[in-house]
Amino acid sequence: MSNNVLNFQSVRLDEDKNVLVILDQTVLPNSTSYLELETVEDVWDAIYKLQVRGAPAIGIAGAYGAYLGISKSTCENYEDFYAEFMKVKERIASSRPTAVNLFWALDRMEACLKQNKDKAVPEIIKALKAEAHFIRDEDEKVCKAIGEYSLSLLKPEMGILTHCNAGTIATAKYGTALAPLYLGAEKGYNFKVFADETRPLLQGARLTAWELNEAGIDVTLICDNMASIVMKNGWIDAVVVGCDRVAYNGDTANKIGTSGVAILAKEYGIPVYVHAPLSTIDLNTKTGKDIHIELRPGEEIYKTWYEKPMAPEGIKTYNPAFDVTDAKYITAIITEKGIAYPPYEESLPKLFEK
Ligand code: MRU
Repeated sequence: MSNNVLNFQSVRLDEDKNVLVILDQTVLPNSTSYLELETVEDVWDAIYKLQVRGAPAIGIAGAYGAYLGISKSTCENYEDFYAEFMKVKERIASSRPTAVNLFWALDRMEACLKQNKDKAVPEIIKALKAEAHFIRDEDEKVCKAIGEYSLSLLKPEMGILTHCNAGTIATAKYGTALAPLYLGAEKGYNFKVFADETRPLLQGARLTAWELNEAGIDVTLICDNMASIVMKNGWIDAVVVGCDRVAYNGDTANKIGTSGVAILAKEYGIPVYVHAPLSTIDLNTKTGKDIHIELRPGEEIYKTWYEKPMAPEGIKTYNPAFDVTDAKYITAIITEKGIAYPPYEESLPKLFEK
């Protein structure tokens, strides 16, 4: 099966123009258009507005953004250059709080800068560009490995439910939760996928349904409140989701609505597989209670998709972008280093030793 969707690059550096080129995920599926980001503010905006989104892609964009932000530095000594870098880093880090990949990637850029401190500033800038490329390339390999581990848990013909978009455009390539579906399709598996639309920003409808449809994978779009009926009908054999931050005890932040899906799955005896690059596992965050959940403007709930507001003028809103699925609802956490099972306090740290 030819799968052109895997050729879409969500984030790439145009070296000739020295701009970051991103696939604008806010206009999919109606148009596949690319934006050129030149400044730190451009990168901040693109992350905040979800033009680039998905935890790994945010990390990659943050790393390139940090490089772009200091690529034209006129500083002549290391101390000034480091101070300038730290301002750029802090600004980009303030764009979205939940996906730990952003902070992980920015910390890696800072570590790279420090490792090269004895070099002249232009050489340090080159090293930072190389590190951002490395983060991107590494993510592609990581996602493929996650896909292979995940596929070992799935069987051809299975019915799969997914929430939000953890697909190729949310990463460097393959995605996390969608990676096993792409790798399975290559082997002739006939998964029947149900994609939750994922209110309020419709990542499931606009992005997951689009990706899988483009790839020729059987996908059925449902509203979020239909997850229970498809499970009860016996159509779902596994739930596959991505994540934005996994705490030490396995509690997992992912797109709002994920915890409801996981609780339902437990009731119906369906396994819930969380797909997590090690860059999304934050052993310093003890439990889900310690995860900073992003709150977004209420307008996303009542204005985004219609010309006229979908609710009374001035209505109160509560719009958390993520929720935490308690570890007890998660059957396994699938990483590039292997599959972790409960108790996660024991299995997750072991993966970092590999
Ligand atoms: O707000 P978003 O669209 O960035 O949320 C994305 C998710 O919740 C994804 O499931 C997660 O980042 C994993 S992407 C591989």
